[in-house]
Amino acid sequence: MTILSVENMNVRFATPDGLVQAVSDLSFTVRAGETLGIVGESGSGKSQSVFALMGLTADNGEVSGAANFHGENLLAMSKRQLNRIRAEKIGMIFQDPMTSLHPFLKIDKQLTEVLMIHKGMSKAAARAESIRMLDAVRIPSPQTRMGQYPHELSGGMRQRIMIAMALLCRPELLIADEPTTALDVTVQAQILSLLWELQGEFNTAILLITHDMGVVAEMCDRVLVMYGGRKMEEADTETLFERPAHPYTQGLLKAIPSITEDMPRLPTIPGNPPNALINSKGCPFRERCDLQKPTCETALPPLTRLGATQLAACHALAQNKTTPLARTA
Ligand SMILES: Nc1ncnc2c1ncn2[C@@H]1O[C@H](COP(=O)(O)OP(=O)(O)OP(=O)(O)O)[C@@H](O)[C@H]1O
Ligand SMILES: [Mg+2]
Repeated sequence: MTILSVENMNVRFATPDGLVQAVSDLSFTVRAGETLGIVGESGSGKSQSVFALMGLTADNGEVSGAANFHGENLLAMSKRQLNRIRAEKIGMIFQDPMTSLHPFLKIDKQLTEVLMIHKGMSKAAARAESIRMLDAVRIPSPQTRMGQYPHELSGGMRQRIMIAMALLCRPELLIADEPTTALDVTVQAQILSLLWELQGEFNTAILLITHDMGVVAEMCDRVLVMYGGRKMEEADTETLFERPAHPYTQGLLKAIPSITEDMPRLPTIPGNPPNALINSKGCPFRERCDLQKPTCETALPPLTRLGATQLAACHALAQNKTTPLARTA
């Protein structure tokens, strides 16, 4: 069952230098209980895509398109409606827990208030439930932690509290924007396996933003690959790793360091990301692409269906297939 359906979403920013197109014509769906990964290099529009869903776009930004969540368009909601959905149905965790945690309030107050306001619980019931959730995210001695301030906790612990807070109302969808990037590798692994376990327990769908293909391989059922604000490829994880279709995806997969090979330095995809200011007609990846040909400069590659779960936007692929998605759908 599809719980979120994003259709032709655009995010633009007005800047002194001109219009920046951060997200272009993005469409995707999230199904109940699945983990959908969004990958792409820095500046590819991953965060702005999910910020737009949550009404967190900066004041100089403008969002268009639709994002249907239970038949309601998130992009057309008032701040008040969104606040309610954000607390009750969609949880969000960020790279920096301090974006969600209030620095001057004890953990107790931060957790219990969510439940008292949104679930109408009594203080005692909210406290009991908060402690249960801290226990679920493997916080040792939760009673003691409830009486502490965020700064008294380690980074990994704060991350767990943020996850607990995001899951308190048992949301159907958890949006996680690079939730472990700031943590050391061991803590990262613990947090990811915790998310995975909690997902099984609460049947939460997860939209996971990461630039780590290793995390994708371990966590995600399906993957969107973004570049220059656009969806370049979409596939189930197995297909993406076995038969990456887009030259950009192929480059990303080559850039994964291998522990079995002796590599002096990480291979990178040559060239620079596109300037978001330029909203040109062609393929955003063309200048870095080995398969570049004249059409890539003049026309945007259509998203072409390559298999049951796989779509990719590349002229080289579109040429071999006769039916671009726009015409089959
Ligand atoms: N308020 C703003 N004004 C102008 N441009 C912005 C604003 N916020 C974001 N952008 C631009 O939007 C584009 C997409 O940014 P976004 O944060 O979504 O990238 P990202 O894929 O999440 O990157 P990272 O991996 O570094 O987090 C970038 O070019 C960024 O500079
Ligand atoms: Mg980001």
